Amino acid sequence: MIRNVLVINGPNLNMLGKRPKEHYGAMTLDEINELIKEEAKDSFDVSFYQSNYEGDIITKIQDAIGVYDAIVINPGAYTHTSVAIHDALEIYNGIKIEVHLSKVDDREDFRKINFVRSVCDATFSGKKDGSYIDAIKYLKNVK
Ligand code: DQA
Repeated sequence: MIRNVLVINGPNLNMLGKRPKEHYGAMTLDEINELIKEEAKDSFDVSFYQSNYEGDIITKIQDAIGVYDAIVINPGAYTHTSVAIHDALEIYNGIKIEVHLSKVDDREDFRKINFVRSVCDATFSGKKDGSYIDAIKYLKNVK
């Protein structure tokens, strides 16, 4: 039973609304976060964190140990580069869900390299804001 969830968004996700709409949709991050809150409201508390800095994301994951039952993370471009975020997620002992707005696996070859998937329990991608909502629905079904 999940009591609380931390949603982490990495670099450039604060710019949603201004990024290519065919990949990321038209919604801002605040608008997506409102949808997430609405989807989660009868089930668990949700907190939100966005950073453009790798080290800050790592510290946030470390500080989530023993505090949050699950992390939903869209690491943005760090998905494809960050062994350090991989290692932080590996240490975190709650449920970990990887999220992407776009169909990362069907895009450029450099986006096919993925350092986070192997340390996450599930992945939702390619449905724009709906990827986050699918992650919340998944967590609502965790017993
Ligand atoms: C992204 C996909 C990444 O490749 C990209 O660098 C992002 C966003 C997504 O949500 O589709 O910034 O994680």
